[in-house]
Amino acid sequence: MPGLTGPSDYSQEPPRHPFLKINSKQPFNAEPPRSALVSSYVTPVDFFYKRNHGPIPVVDDIERYSVSISGLIDNPIELFMKDIWKLPKYVVTATLQCAGNRRTAMSNVKKVRGVGWDVSAIGNAVWGGAKLADVLELVGISNFTGTTNSGGKHVEFISIDKCKEENGGPYKASIPLSQATNPEADVLLAYDMNGEPLNRDHGYPLRVVVPGVIGARSVKWLDSINIIAEECQGFFMQKDYKMFAPSVNWDNINWSTRKPQMDFPVQCAICSLEDVAAVKPGKVKVSGYAASGGGRGIERIDVSVDGGKTWVETFRHQKTGVPYIADDMSSDKWAWVLFEVIVDVSRSTEIVAKAVDSAANVQPENVLEIWNLRGILNTSWHRVKVQVGHSNM
Ligand code: MTE
Repeated sequence: MPGLTGPSDYSQEPPRHPFLKINSKQPFNAEPPRSALVSSYVTPVDFFYKRNHGPIPVVDDIERYSVSISGLIDNPIELFMKDIWKLPKYVVTATLQCAGNRRTAMSNVKKVRGVGWDVSAIGNAVWGGAKLADVLELVGISNFTGTTNSGGKHVEFISIDKCKEENGGPYKASIPLSQATNPEADVLLAYDMNGEPLNRDHGYPLRVVVPGVIGARSVKWLDSINIIAEECQGFFMQKDYKMFAPSVNWDNINWSTRKPQMDFPVQCAICSLEDVAAVKPGKVKVSGYAASGGGRGIERIDVSVDGGKTWVETFRHQKTGVPYIADDMSSDKWAWVLFEVIVDVSRSTEIVAKAVDSAANVQPENVLEIWNLRGILNTSWHRVKVQVGHSNM
């Protein structure tokens, strides 16, 4: 495409914040320190995790950059940024979470394949852009359409970046047409992040944001949109980001038996303490985040200081100081909830957190029950060990 190049090497990577913990250099995969996540409800762009499968594309001519829409529709079109800017702008606060968040902890009990992540492959941002439902109306697909006249049922997003998993081809993914054309699903073609134009790491000049769904479907550096009959056949839909039973291994795996993962399950993590933390006896502040997929709210987050025998309920908020109410009109339905509680710790112990979403889904107790060979969706109770020291710490 004119105006856009996908470099095949890593010579043109953007600058990044030195505090990020780098999990892989090429492609660049990095997450912020835990504490950065609970410092603010909206995650600053610099501290937002970066998840890439290839080199970061360079857009050198924004006026010539365009997105084509074609496939099973009557009138294919080409949209330039000026056409997208003209559409009504929506601003949606939504949490993006990589399906591999907390993979390292899963790998620690039994080895899995994939980039290691602590608890920070997640972030909450204010995305600005056009609604995909409005964009699809431009090609004659009305709101709330499940199938086009020519049999289109899925919307495929194709990027410009080149990935080795796609044998040098672009990253791609799809979502159902019924979700894409539902204005309330808030699927965006976003050009802003936290009130600024997207930066290169996060998809400049245009990316998809699919709220409530694993990050893998929010395709960055959008090149084209394709209306197709079956879901996208790309690597990241068919040979990755699927959830398998613990008994499935690399010898007996049959990828076609499972569907691509879409919504993410209920999740929470403590961010005020590292995996092993030294504390003084007495009051300890425990804070972190909780999020669920599909627009479900967070009903409760419980914390235990005795490994799960007894629990206390935490204070939840989105806007600082304002108590959060799950599924209330004033809550950001696609966004995480931060929690905090002060607990008494008198001896070395394990502090545990678990969240319950508004459909009463609860995180599983142990990681082994949900272990899977790709190490996705580790949503087991989050545990940190605290060592109580009595000397001057
Ligand atoms: N889009 C493209 N084009 N290339 C990618 O490698 N990674 C996906 C998704 N979109 C990816 C992509 C994955 S796995 C995640 S979790 C999110 O982008 C991460 O978005 P972020 O880097 O803005 O946090």
